[in-house]
Amino acid sequence: MQAMISVLKADERHIDGIAEVCTEAYWATYNNTHPKDYIRRVVKEFYNHDRISKEVSVSNRGWGGYFVAVEDEKVIGAGGGGMIGNTTGEIFVLYLDPGRRNEGIGTIILNAITDQQKEFGAREQWVSVQKGNQKGIPFYEARGFTFKYEKPGYANVEGENYISLRYYRFI
Ligand SMILES: CC(C)(COP(=O)(O)OP(=O)(O)OC[C@H]1O[C@@H](n2cnc3c(N)ncnc32)[C@H](O)[C@@H]1OP(=O)(O)O)[C@@H](O)C(=O)NCCC(=O)NCCS
Repeated sequence: MQAMISVLKADERHIDGIAEVCTEAYWATYNNTHPKDYIRRVVKEFYNHDRISKEVSVSNRGWGGYFVAVEDEKVIGAGGGGMIGNTTGEIFVLYLDPGRRNEGIGTIILNAITDQQKEFGAREQWVSVQKGNQKGIPFYEARGFTFKYEKPGYANVEGENYISLRYYRFI
């Protein structure tokens, strides 16, 4: 029998699962395009236990908390966003277990975040994707996002020139 996948608002039970799924997905996504020290730095800053434990305990307009996809009590996907303007939401993070892509799970998480943002009054939604991320860009395009402009990557340190693409859709 196929196991049930549920998408729910994350709490303390999901902290380690979120850290694990985001870390694995980040490595799988950027292994071919970014150096290991870059990946290590980002994962350490964003997907550590302490940070995620704070992030699951907060839910407000600016950060709506994490949503997780759970199967057999295991976190297989995680995402979250927040409002960046009166009628503008943004997806800040969205990652799946690398072995579970293209089953529709990312769409369910995106829909949960989108419903939350609509309740906050969102009429449009943004996301940043790293240039060259072919595991993310086709997904957002399939969901109606269009490319708007590029800007320097958020994790760049001196001497790095990675580029972030800003994508947009009406919701
Ligand atoms: C992005 C991500 C969260 C999407 O979740 P997912 O569960 O794999 O996506 P879904 O199965 O819900 O949807 C996939 C959609 O994208 C489309 N798609 C995916 N890869 C594609 C490709 N290479 N070319 C064209 N379309 C593609 C599929 O056709 C599908 O659309 P459809 O249902 O209309 O056919 C997931 O793939 C992931 O973790 N990727 C790596 C991490 C990442 O890049 N995250 C985003 C960082 S901003």
